[in-house]
Amino acid sequence: WLPALIALLLGYLLGAIPFGLLLTRFGGAGDLREIGSGNIGATNVLRTGRKGLAAATLILDAAKGAVAVLIAGAYNPAFAPLAAVGAFFGHLYPVWLGFRGGKGVATFLGIALALHWPCGVTFAIVWIAATFLTRISSVGGMAAAVAAPVCAAVMGMFDLVLLLLAFTLMLLWKHRANLARLLDGTEPKIGAGKTRA
Ligand code: G3P
Repeated sequence: WLPALIALLLGYLLGAIPFGLLLTRFGGAGDLREIGSGNIGATNVLRTGRKGLAAATLILDAAKGAVAVLIAGAYNPAFAPLAAVGAFFGHLYPVWLGFRGGKGVATFLGIALALHWPCGVTFAIVWIAATFLTRISSVGGMAAAVAAPVCAAVMGMFDLVLLLLAFTLMLLWKHRANLARLLDGTEPKIGAGKTRA
């Protein structure tokens, strides 16, 4: 059980690195938690006007999930899902930030690509398409998160369905303020200002 615990912990420690917060702080763009939605993800980094930092946040938040899964999976394929759980929890609930982390979209992408790349690619396509069509980042992220377990079901990978579905439910829970704004028509489009949360 010790290697399994190490895989879970490795995932958590990698997932809990708040790249958006670090990049904006060291990039001189202020404290991300005081800007826009207050979220530490790439969408909110974009609201600082620093597109390069937003792209870097997206890539690094995805990469930390993928790296955790790939390292644990290289040691023992059975540990890959444990590292995935650790990384997703780490991103959503980082101990260093009082457990107030991100909403999980980029990290979900990285994890899905590393666990089963066709479902990662499905996630990316749905994300890009839904974001492009609606111009609302949260809609793109949530649609992609729903598409990932559907992809696993279509592939007949039922263990993966359960794991990804758990991530999807956590991601939707983290987007509850976005969902409330979508329902009352106040969720801003990309490029507009933003209320907190
Ligand atoms: O990745 C988070 C995105 O789906 C929503 O972010 O800042 O608009 O709440 P935000």
